[in-house]
Amino acid sequence: ALIVRHRMRSSSRWARALAIVRELEEKCGTPETKLLQVADAMTVEMHAGLASEGGSKLKMLISYVDNLPTGDEEGVYYALDLGGTNFRVLRVELGGKTGGIVSQEFAEASIPPELMVGTSDALFDYIAAELAKFITEEEEKYHPPPGRQRELGFTFSFPVMQTSINSGTLIRWTKGFSIDDTVGNDVVAELTKAMHRQGVDVNVTALVNDTIGTLAGGRFSNKDVAIAVIMGTGTNAAYVERAQAIPKWHGPLPKSGEMVINMEWGNFKSSHLPITDYDHALDAESLNPGEQVFEKLTSGMYLGEILRRVLLRMAEEAAFFGDEVPPRLNTPFVLRTPDMSAMHHDTSADLRVVSSKLKDIFEVSNTSLKTRRLVVELCNIITTRGARLAAAGILGVLKKMGRDSATGGVVEKTVIAMDGGLYEHYAEYRNCLENTVIKLLGGGNSSSNISFEHSNDGSGIGAALLAASHSHYLEERS
Ligand code: GLC
Repeated sequence: ALIVRHRMRSSSRWARALAIVRELEEKCGTPETKLLQVADAMTVEMHAGLASEGGSKLKMLISYVDNLPTGDEEGVYYALDLGGTNFRVLRVELGGKTGGIVSQEFAEASIPPELMVGTSDALFDYIAAELAKFITEEEEKYHPPPGRQRELGFTFSFPVMQTSINSGTLIRWTKGFSIDDTVGNDVVAELTKAMHRQGVDVNVTALVNDTIGTLAGGRFSNKDVAIAVIMGTGTNAAYVERAQAIPKWHGPLPKSGEMVINMEWGNFKSSHLPITDYDHALDAESLNPGEQVFEKLTSGMYLGEILRRVLLRMAEEAAFFGDEVPPRLNTPFVLRTPDMSAMHHDTSADLRVVSSKLKDIFEVSNTSLKTRRLVVELCNIITTRGARLAAAGILGVLKKMGRDSATGGVVEKTVIAMDGGLYEHYAEYRNCLENTVIKLLGGGNSSSNISFEHSNDGSGIGAALLAASHSHYLEERS
């Protein structure tokens, strides 16, 4: 192959590179008709997932949250947020009816990669130790009354089959975590045991997915919030469903008549999704082949990796970076989505950000301007597909809720609480997603009732709020 490449004239190299880009563009195409099909498929799968356990790739998990925060929540609560590359511990002081959030402190740490694929005890010990350290520091500052029971909301952003508001078993890991001995276990019990080992006494009163936390946090500041979407390392959505519309729910009908559903939409799959050979290969080589197909097309963990795979093919087949394939291009996940975003947003005339990223990440120097332009185009193709598919997903949820059009003259406002690093930091992605939702809704009357709100760290605060409301609940019941 090397000899052939040596013989390739530069004009034919370039033609080959362009052909690969055009092919990608075509395969990643998301015309409106396709997006509407994806949205409809999402709605259909939502129904199926609500009908019976295992009825769909969409798990449509019951969260046991039947009341979202009202603003009356009061007291000091801790929250622990584990879900992606980072985890956070928070202390939130809630002031009751008029007080709002009185104070808020947090600490953040990254999860050492070896702990993501190690043992359950090692992961939970690490988390519990960070929590213990944080609590000690906070209590030195705030001096709580002695003997006060600490309460915590645990945001655990993986698919969990809840058995109550504060217990649930892990169905499977996602997003690069793979620890066999946690699967099937109650994650609150795992955390509680680890906290005992660390000698810290905390009562977990709420176990929530990050989407549920974001929904709760979003509702606290805006009563029109009815959907939460995370676009971060992974992706997922939660929304408020009518309890009557959940055939698989056999528990008592909640007073509110509502139940919040964690869709786990990252696992959505449909024949309408535009999937390329790069995606197939990425999936096959992932820790969870065949799973989280929608997530692998749309979320932050994977966008950069898709781009790396395209660039590798261009290097191999079109000598895109010269006669040799840069060795680093072979390393999975070396190209992270934040770097892709930086290249995509490069506004300098000579694309010097692209140039320096290619140098830092792949050790390729002296790229021509037209090479860099093509790299930016690739960023755009991959990101546009992801953002538009995510938008179709949102339309599917709006349709299921009957909020995709203003019928009967009653204009119901719907605010979508958004969070996650991809949404927050990748402007092209965010803008494309939001514009596409509006466009798909017809861009007119019905779309003006739909708006997006960035719920910054809503998931941690939301967990604290739910810990608060469910702590009362437990008191009343005992
Ligand atoms: C993954 C997890 C899901 C989480 C999402 C966003 O899809 O399975 O539980 O909500 O990532 O963090």
